[in-house]
Amino acid sequence: MNIYANKNRYYFEGPMSHQGNYQLVSKSNASSFHRSRPIRKAALIFLAVVLMGIAAFSARGLGQTIRPGEVWLDDRGQPIQAHGGGVLKQGNTYFWFGEEREQGLDPTKRYVGCYSSKDLVHWKFRNLVIQLSDPENFGPRWILERPKVFYNAKTKKYVMYMHIDGPVNGNGGGYALARVGVATSDKVDGDYHYIRSFRPLGHESRDIGQFVDDDGTAYLIFEDRPFGFRIAKLSDDYLDVEKEVALIPMHLEGGAIVHYQGLYYAIGSELTSWSPNPNKYATATSLSGPWTEFKDIAPPETKTYGAQSTMMLKVVGSKTTTVIFMGDIWKPKTLWDSRYLWMPLTISDGKLSLPTPRPWKLNVKTGEVEVAQ
Ligand code: GAL
Repeated sequence: MNIYANKNRYYFEGPMSHQGNYQLVSKSNASSFHRSRPIRKAALIFLAVVLMGIAAFSARGLGQTIRPGEVWLDDRGQPIQAHGGGVLKQGNTYFWFGEEREQGLDPTKRYVGCYSSKDLVHWKFRNLVIQLSDPENFGPRWILERPKVFYNAKTKKYVMYMHIDGPVNGNGGGYALARVGVATSDKVDGDYHYIRSFRPLGHESRDIGQFVDDDGTAYLIFEDRPFGFRIAKLSDDYLDVEKEVALIPMHLEGGAIVHYQGLYYAIGSELTSWSPNPNKYATATSLSGPWTEFKDIAPPETKTYGAQSTMMLKVVGSKTTTVIFMGDIWKPKTLWDSRYLWMPLTISDGKLSLPTPRPWKLNVKTGEVEVAQ
């Protein structure tokens, strides 16, 4: 670790940086730093304490840091555009799919971005896997949101589900169609071919979520406005939604499920459009229920720290298993600048909570995390 001075400020080289590798640790100006002995001593003690903290944070050889709410850059130095997204693991590579909302794109098209990573921290841009013009004459205000990709081992196809929406005859605001769309590709980051859209099992479907159980069974979670939170099994080829598993009579969006230590945890957000609200969770020993009542995942006044759930990602390591809350911090007026809130969840004995967002590190091999104090 190096300490150096620049413009009369003292910096150290270390992992907790906000700009490159360096973080400002003291604003003392250089002349006073050298002039006054007590100040110098105090500054040195302060530095030592900070350095010890940093050393402790990095001692376990964990990877680099995830910073909830900050701009997250890809390998090209561009903000990751994978909003309302999901992560699929293939071998030891993670693929993150989500809404690409960069400025300057063709306004008639809708886009899905795909990124890959081995450590869930550094993401390589792979492809705009969907660059789609209105596929079924829905009209200029058609919507494609919350893409999720499943891998079907039998057909060897990657199957993407999307929330497809738009007004109907100019009515119903922007979200009257309430359908899911399906697209497939032979390659995880290939150009996905749009197949069709439909209402799953005949029901309205707006926000969708994806869940693959430990036995490999794939489920779609969807928000059915008249009835609630639905969990349904996909068909063998994943091209259809085959069978309802549960209907939880709760109106929740951004649905996500994880199976952890013998219990299913379902989370979702209230229906407040782009504005954050207190996200909630329930548990069940079986996907079909009975589900407990829903409780807040974070102090309700924080409104989930400004985020909305999109997925819970289970990282099974050699030492422990970590479940990551993946959320979107939407900026409706500048959607391209929407941020991500990823934090390891605290889960035990049927209780789940989202800790206060702080920088944290993950070792995907061991599953261990360390959260900055
Ligand atoms: C949210 C939903 C987003 C988007 C938004 C539009 O509730 O989760 O995916 O649809 O509403 O208002």
